[in-house]
Amino acid sequence: MKIFADTADVNEIRRLASMGLVDGVTTNPSLVAKTGREYADVVKEICGIVDGPISAEVISTDAKGMIEEGLRLAAIHPNIVVKTPMGPDGLIACRELANRGHRVNMTLVFSAGQALLTAKAGAYLVSPFVGRLDDISEDGMALIADIVSIYRNYGYKTEVLVASVRHPMHIVEAAKLGADCVTCPAKTIEQLMHHPLTDRGLAAFLKDWENRKR
Ligand code: E4P
Repeated sequence: MKIFADTADVNEIRRLASMGLVDGVTTNPSLVAKTGREYADVVKEICGIVDGPISAEVISTDAKGMIEEGLRLAAIHPNIVVKTPMGPDGLIACRELANRGHRVNMTLVFSAGQALLTAKAGAYLVSPFVGRLDDISEDGMALIADIVSIYRNYGYKTEVLVASVRHPMHIVEAAKLGADCVTCPAKTIEQLMHHPLTDRGLAAFLKDWENRKR
């Protein structure tokens, strides 16, 4: 399973990339706003750090604007994947950008029906938001199971990118379900590295070594 960093913080991306953990990056307007920088500048810098799909989201709300903005974003670097929001305009923009040879990540997907339409519109990635579904007492991972099974039934090429990840078990569950990729905040990837028995085991090894017979 591919792991994407869900952040616009280039320092976080560099750290994860140094461990070989980043197959791609996803950004959104909220994440880039936190940096206080221009969207294009941030995305350009990320493309210089990670050699993989880098999702950059359009801000326009109508199909024409999304297509124009998507083309501008795609021109930044060949690894850019244009993120369009789910809905009629997002689907039109997705189809048009895909027809012109660009990769699209359909974002803000919350139902299996939306995911089905996303595949038919020719998206490269579908982003179902598991955490935000869990937040309203729905089952985010059940949606992933449904989408994986629907896409397999028909051989759709669209890859399932589990988004809105909140904790390490979302990542493990995504892998068990056969999702293609998961996009995670740096903190969640770091949490995945740790286990109390690893810490305890290392402390014991170091202590035994310190107390060795000399
Ligand atoms: C990524 O593509 C999404 O924009 C992101 O995972 C949303 O996460 P959030 O629900 O934690 O804001």
